[in-house]
Amino acid sequence: MGPDDKICYCYHVSLRKLYHFARRERLQRPSQMSDCLGAGTGCGWCIPILCKLHQRVAEGWQLDGSTPLEGLPENATDYAAARQSYIKSDKKNTFDADDASS
Ligand code: FES
Repeated sequence: MGPDDKICYCYHVSLRKLYHFARRERLQRPSQMSDCLGAGTGCGWCIPILCKLHQRVAEGWQLDGSTPLEGLPENATDYAAARQSYIKSDKKNTFDADDASS
């Protein structure tokens, strides 16, 4: 997935926006990622990715394309399809870390 692909479909928040928000604000807790345009406060699909992004930014991960963020599929189409499956399932808001990559 590219930096301008949406991570939070409910609030249309891109990976780039979330990455820069996490770096700029130096967030103490993953839940603070929701302060970026409400990301994660809708269906809950993106919460595992928001948590992973928060962790990796704190570790110094760079959004330069050299190392993909773990848990994200290679392309946005697969990510969108996985989210559609999540929306249709009864797994909403279960926050399984494997959901985002399946
Ligand atoms: S996709 Fe982020 S809350 Fe629904």
